[in-house]
Amino acid sequence: MEEIVKTLPQHTSSWSKGRLTYCMYEGFWMTKRFHEGVTNLAQQSYKAQPNDVFLCSSPKTGTTWLKALALAIVTRNKFDESNSPLLRTTPHDFLRHLEVDPKQSEENQKNSFFPLVATHLPYALMPKSFVTSNCKIVYIYRNIKDVVVSHYHFEREKIKLSVEDAPFEEAFHEFCQASLERPGTILFLKYEDLKRDPMSHVKTLVEFLGYPFTREEENAGVIENVINLCSFKNLSNLEVNKTGSFLALNTMVENRTFFWKATDGDWENYFTDEMKEKIDKLIYQKMSGTGLIL
Ligand code: A3P
Repeated sequence: MEEIVKTLPQHTSSWSKGRLTYCMYEGFWMTKRFHEGVTNLAQQSYKAQPNDVFLCSSPKTGTTWLKALALAIVTRNKFDESNSPLLRTTPHDFLRHLEVDPKQSEENQKNSFFPLVATHLPYALMPKSFVTSNCKIVYIYRNIKDVVVSHYHFEREKIKLSVEDAPFEEAFHEFCQASLERPGTILFLKYEDLKRDPMSHVKTLVEFLGYPFTREEENAGVIENVINLCSFKNLSNLEVNKTGSFLALNTMVENRTFFWKATDGDWENYFTDEMKEKIDKLIYQKMSGTGLIL
């Protein structure tokens, strides 16, 4: 594996004081560990099943939230807010994450009857069976400026650098440097919409997943319970998410790093006018015509 990585274009980020190295694989920048996950996965020739539901996201766009919501929805006949596995396990450890855990941890092996599989892989790198199986896809996305800030803090915490030692400005410039047709089977969820109006978007998600709420459940407040259980306030205050950690790609990751502020527009506290202009230009170049510009 090391040999393959050596042949790929590499970039060691200066803002991280050399602690983060990325390689370019098939046109995408990724950490070496992530690359390992991607190629392990290809070697394992993962077979997507028609009943699978893929939870797709770029890192820092609301993956943890979407995983928690989907899990609470499909397991609600088994668990409720008093005994949900979310109270003691991070959603990342409970759900299978394709490229991180191609072999499956013990915890999610037990749960492999759930149809949910999460991934950060771009469409072009997904296993062939995913493209041909016509399985359902939920794709969550978020204002890229907040993603940049979220990403910065996540990586900074991971490599244990303070804000003073890892200036946002450098991270921003590096981020900039780096730069459908399946009717009824893709749901695009916007993080900001989900925050603004969780009720109607969770209902859409529930219908899409094929687990609609019954009238009795609606009357009994089950939707509100799912939303509250998975809320940032609730999840980020659970002991497991304050002090626990989980193994991803042979590295222990602290659960708390998935919960920062969960606010919209925090980017305004970090971006200068110049940075805003620069990223707006990039977004326009890359995304115009996709309908996904926020
Ligand atoms: P911030 O860094 O802006 O606070 P991901 O799960 O894709 O890694 O994304 C992490 C971002 O989602 C972080 O954003 C985190 O605080 C936020 N987040 C985590 N759990 C959430 C929840 N239950 N509801 C809303 N946002 C959540």
